[in-house]
Amino acid sequence: MKSKQIWRKARVISMAEPAADVRMLTFAVDGLQSAFDPGSHTNIKVMINGAPAIRTYTVIPSAPGTLSIAVKLHPNSRGGSAAIWRMQPGDETEMTEPENRFELSWRASHYLLIAGGIGVTPIYGMAEALAARGQSLRMVYGAKNRSLMAFAEPLQALLGDRLQCFSQDEGQHLDLEAEFSALPPDAEAYICGPLGLLEAARDIWRRSGRPMSRLRYEVFGDNGRFAEQEFEVEVAGYGRSITVRADQTMLDALTDAGVPMIFDCRRGECGLCAVSIVSATGEVDHRDVFFSQGERKENPRICACVSRLCGGTLVVDTGYRREQAA
Ligand code: FES
Repeated sequence: MKSKQIWRKARVISMAEPAADVRMLTFAVDGLQSAFDPGSHTNIKVMINGAPAIRTYTVIPSAPGTLSIAVKLHPNSRGGSAAIWRMQPGDETEMTEPENRFELSWRASHYLLIAGGIGVTPIYGMAEALAARGQSLRMVYGAKNRSLMAFAEPLQALLGDRLQCFSQDEGQHLDLEAEFSALPPDAEAYICGPLGLLEAARDIWRRSGRPMSRLRYEVFGDNGRFAEQEFEVEVAGYGRSITVRADQTMLDALTDAGVPMIFDCRRGECGLCAVSIVSATGEVDHRDVFFSQGERKENPRICACVSRLCGGTLVVDTGYRREQAA
């Protein structure tokens, strides 16, 4: 189950748009500890289709006593980004104390920071922290075009020629092979972006012979091949079908229905929520970074927190047995 979280009352105090499709909200948070590590995230309570839900976002640098998040409005979102975009100054909610699963090691001689699109949110804080401590670093930042590069201006002011931006619309592409081969042996790379970028980076890094522990990554939520659709889940030993709405994760639908689930990150990274697939009548849309490409292709298990079925019915075995639950 989820580790204990400390929830704090929070109120929106300002709103900005650091890129054409990104809304930044800053919250005054009651009793917030003044400092948190770069790469940390917070959970926030939102209402989606009239029902309470929890969404997780990276926190970006902000003044003491406040938390800022920057959220891209996803046309295919399950409702989380739209709920954040509806918030206005004065609105109240609750947020958790930031936690960090994407930490800087502070042990490398040089850091390569790689951001793809809205994946800049944890990387922004890392760049600020590394620069403040005088660490050797380079940041590369790619997006479809420059209007979609949130925080490019403050990053440029902070890093100067240590930042290189790549705009796909201008025919510029990030060359991961070249970036990795230019690194000293004990360098580390931190990457946040879409699943395809992360998988390419992992593949090239592995082939380069560098220790995988020196490539650290975080994925963001919009990694589906298909738009969200409602589907049915049947759990072995449970005895009835559970509907997973388009605006809901399978993990939420299962826990709401009383199926005991183990989970932690809710971001497709830790693998704790993975359940065995018995059968599927639709296409499985794997959106995690926990399984390898080969494992996803063979389809033995699915991460319930992010992955879904593209319509139809999924039969899973969570280990649940009614007689054990009674
Ligand atoms: S809870 Fe971590 S992968 Fe699902």
